[in-house]
Amino acid sequence: MPLVSMKPMLAEARRRGYAVGAFNTVDYGSCKAVLAAAEELRAPVIVQLSVKTIAYWSHGTIAAWMRELGERAAVPVALHVDHCKDVKVIEGCIAHGWTSVMIDASALPYEENLARSRQVVEMAAPHGIGVEAELGQIAGVEEDLSVTEQDAHLADPQKALAFCRALDLAAFAPAIGTAHGLYKGEPRIAFDRLEAISRGTETPLALHGGTGLSDEIIQRCIGLGCAKINISTQLKHSFVDGFVDYHRQNPKDYEPLKPIDAQYRAVKDLVAGYVRQFGGAGKAG
Ligand code: 13P
Repeated sequence: MPLVSMKPMLAEARRRGYAVGAFNTVDYGSCKAVLAAAEELRAPVIVQLSVKTIAYWSHGTIAAWMRELGERAAVPVALHVDHCKDVKVIEGCIAHGWTSVMIDASALPYEENLARSRQVVEMAAPHGIGVEAELGQIAGVEEDLSVTEQDAHLADPQKALAFCRALDLAAFAPAIGTAHGLYKGEPRIAFDRLEAISRGTETPLALHGGTGLSDEIIQRCIGLGCAKINISTQLKHSFVDGFVDYHRQNPKDYEPLKPIDAQYRAVKDLVAGYVRQFGGAGKAG
């Protein structure tokens, strides 16, 4: 089926109490692996790419892979740009048929973040494109984006609710103590803030920093309205290890399709595990 906006997908997930996995892919093979896992489990899914990955391959190339893969899939698939600070990159996504975008103006003061996010919602709405925006700042490194522990701060629930009332968002990402990359210790999640935000708005919430969270944290966050869960770091590990491990075990084998297939299967298995954990299996219509 054609690629879809994540807005109705996430609204339904929030209503029914599960989360849609949003997986950061890096090439055609990883996109194909994510869709194959979703298809096998009959789950809606979000394929998201970083601005750095778009700069590497181009908007049009990625959209072409995803249109081709999406049209063959019988499950809803959204194509999303993750953590985009640059409105020009978002214009490119809109022009090339992407169905979903994240404007990350979280480093700006509240009013400027709101104004920039509103500008993107107004640009995207006529094209039926869903928008995610962030408040507070999530720590860690995600591609070109790096937020130190000192700069990271949690979302203020009152401001978060005002932000959600002011904007018609497909997903709202409040910083609640999770982080991009690998956790050094046990993450401290501000469940009190998440609960206050979740009680005050029906906007589906996006949980960033999904790699390394315990099942207990994940299920609690889903119960508190998180309907989109982002996985990037673990997918990158499976992607690289899948290829490298095959070669280590078969050092004389230089048939590229074999390590490529091992890599594909490693990513597909990883995604399938997360989709089941998030409760998305069987939810695709
Ligand atoms: P991880 O790096 O924890 O997988 O987080 C991914 C993410 O939130 C991307 O925006």
